[in-house]
Amino acid sequence: MAEVTAMPERIDRGRRGTYGAFALAVVVALSSASWLGCGSSDSGSGSVEPPPAPPADFEATAADFDCILSWPRVRNIRITNKLSADAEAEAVALAQNPERGKQFPVGTIVQLFPGEAMVKRGPDYDPDNNNWEYFELRTSAAGTEINVRGRDDVINMFGAQCFGCHVAARDFDFLCEKNRGCIGLPVTDEVITALQNGDPRCGG
Ligand code: HEC
Repeated sequence: MAEVTAMPERIDRGRRGTYGAFALAVVVALSSASWLGCGSSDSGSGSVEPPPAPPADFEATAADFDCILSWPRVRNIRITNKLSADAEAEAVALAQNPERGKQFPVGTIVQLFPGEAMVKRGPDYDPDNNNWEYFELRTSAAGTEINVRGRDDVINMFGAQCFGCHVAARDFDFLCEKNRGCIGLPVTDEVITALQNGDPRCGG
């Protein structure tokens, strides 16, 4: 009787042992596979650099705002990225081919008029607003001064809150352009172009 009751225990222990060995084999197989993977993509140059981590935040200073005519233009938008040329290329590509739900990279600055800007901050800045910081700027031949920055207190040249309009275009990362639900601005495309061309920081 005693032997019979002992049996299941032995079998049970035996199973656990088998499972443990199997798990170990899986771990070894996985780690050697990733080891091989690294080696083959490295083409023998020594240590493998991990891809750079995305920037945590970008807090613009007045010096980051310059002549908007020197930035790429996509339709009415002037757009740049102050962190890298790659990030600027990514931002321009997204502006050219807008994708619902896709966000601009951290460090992107977007302007319609010289005196107003949206700057993409890091992921913890203001998630409900896709981490945009709004700016009211004073521009002159001497450069840029920041008048107001933030969200709720920033109003445009017509006295309305930036966020209040731009939130309607949430699906397109808050860029209004045409037909994304934002209240329209009382200016024609010709006036927008004229205001951009009149940017006093462009030395013309
Ligand atoms: C009355 C609503 C309204 C308010 C207020 C407003 N905007 Fe806009 N904004 C628009 C519309 C509409 C466009 C698209 C203009 C176009 O291309 O015809 C636009 C365009 C822009 C653009 C170019 C990218 C885009 O969204 O198309 C930027 C940058 C911008 N606004 C920043 C601001 C800032 C900064 C403020 C506050 C200082 C502000 N806006 C206030 C409606 C508004």
